[in-house]
Amino acid sequence: MLDTMEKEVLYSREAIRKRIGELAGEIDCRYAGKELVVIGVLKGAFIFMADLIRCLQVPCIVDFVRVASYGAGSVTSGTVTITKDIETDILGRDVLIVEDIIDTGLTLTYLVNALKKRRPASVSVCAFIDKRLRRQIPFEADYVGFSMKDGFVIGYGLDFDEKARFLPDVYVVKNL
Ligand code: IMP
Repeated sequence: MLDTMEKEVLYSREAIRKRIGELAGEIDCRYAGKELVVIGVLKGAFIFMADLIRCLQVPCIVDFVRVASYGAGSVTSGTVTITKDIETDILGRDVLIVEDIIDTGLTLTYLVNALKKRRPASVSVCAFIDKRLRRQIPFEADYVGFSMKDGFVIGYGLDFDEKARFLPDVYVVKNL
């Protein structure tokens, strides 16, 4: 299927590496002298998170959360639930959520609110890709790798029907 898919590189592995170095620098500045709890949103963020934390100077511990949003077909109803929770007590801790893509904004709005109820010292969000024009509710990430207008992207952790996560570059799919 991947062979027949018409796709072109949008963000090369080199561009991604460079951008992650810049993001890590910003995060290091803000959290100097602290320890971060980095929470990756499964599955799409796992490669981005792995590369990001290896560029950070601030010490961190890692955990993962998995969320599901329900709706008919590709239209989301806005109902989001946690299907795999973190195992870390975040009370009084500085939390950085690492997400693959912000699209409608529903997932992260829900997740940030759910985690804030556990009274962390702070919660910030680092998203690999921001599709700003597709928001259904306003949401601003603290750190954004790349912004794009529209289109469907795969690779570097991002899937199409669970395929293509392993590709080292990010591609935009042409014939969807
Ligand atoms: P939302 O912000 O609640 O709409 O959720 C965004 C989620 O939709 C992301 O975490 C991805 O899992 C998925 N998603 C949105 N756009 C793409 C894409 O272009 N490729 C792969 N997954 C996508």
